[in-house]
Amino acid sequence: MKTHSIAVLEGDGIGPEIMAEALGVLRVVGEQSGVKFALHPALFGGRAYFETGSAFPDETKAICDRCDAILKGPIGLSFEESKKIPVDEQPERGALLPLRKRYNTYANFRPVYLPAELAHFSPLKPRVVEGGIDIVIIRELVGGLYFGEKEVGKRSDGTRYVRETLDYDEHQIARILHVAFKESMGRKRVLHNVHKNNVLKSSVLWCEILDEVAPHYPDVQVKHIIVDAAATALVLNPRQFDVMVMENMFGDILSDLGGGLLGSLGLMPSACIGTEKSYYEPSHGSAPDIAGKGIANPYSMIGSVAMMLEKSFHMPAEARRIMDAMRNVFGQGFTTADLRDPEGKLAPVSTREFSEKVLEQLRG
Ligand code: IPM
Ligand code: MG
Repeated sequence: MKTHSIAVLEGDGIGPEIMAEALGVLRVVGEQSGVKFALHPALFGGRAYFETGSAFPDETKAICDRCDAILKGPIGLSFEESKKIPVDEQPERGALLPLRKRYNTYANFRPVYLPAELAHFSPLKPRVVEGGIDIVIIRELVGGLYFGEKEVGKRSDGTRYVRETLDYDEHQIARILHVAFKESMGRKRVLHNVHKNNVLKSSVLWCEILDEVAPHYPDVQVKHIIVDAAATALVLNPRQFDVMVMENMFGDILSDLGGGLLGSLGLMPSACIGTEKSYYEPSHGSAPDIAGKGIANPYSMIGSVAMMLEKSFHMPAEARRIMDAMRNVFGQGFTTADLRDPEGKLAPVSTREFSEKVLEQLRG
């Protein structure tokens, strides 16, 4: 029997609840497909810090090193809880960015996917989302401002200052662009290049490299759009987009905007593809305010399992079945209380009940 090993980092807040459901789905897929998934739980994030003194403990690193893929829940603490941890050990800086760096997970896929069955969650007018939204935001994930050198200090006159650097080299840019072009080839062959080359030199180099990479993909039509204009265009006419590619911080911001188009970041799974190893996570945070209440929707965590099956384990049919199953559950009028339901027409079920319905669909 084929075995895939998976490091399971359930994380903080709603992490354990939604991870439990995602693993339930994985179990059923394993039974149905005859593939064995060997799960290796490990501490990561705020809880890891409080239990071990490190948000990304060595033992967790060793487990992740040994596994074929990493499935990660959301991490992070409430504002008050965060203050109990030194700034550099707080889960985002102390665990998440180091995880991305360790496995060089440079290609972040964030689907902004709103099929008809989910359309009621979007705050946009029905005529804007009519026919559905289906965008893949491809975000460079290990370069730019988030990983550049930082300096904090005081000038001689006592003025406090901070300097953060935005670094990219041509190889980093080229590899993410190749990922985006390849993704485009399998889709509508329209690629939006998101940049700010009227101001930033990093974007000038980015666009230069794009001109060098594009001829390898003559069938893909490239459309250039400046990042601020892209934010407006995403709201006014999201259906014009298919694949969008951008550097780290632009992708951080626009992918959250994508979550807004869907009605919730809870509807956005993601894949973080590395040179050798990849990890999968919901695009949202740990939502400490609703943790433990059984009302968090597991869509993004279960969707991350689907992305892992597709991208790490080459099981695209299983991935599609999972996404279809979740779509059908929404299509039947079910939801969880965390997702907005402006018309109050949906039947709220718990996190567990939602995933039980997904399992029913999968068992067909
Ligand atoms: C995300 C998050 C992270 C990021 C934070 C938690 C460091 O917002 O995955 O989008 O900025 O990349
Ligand atoms: Mg973000």
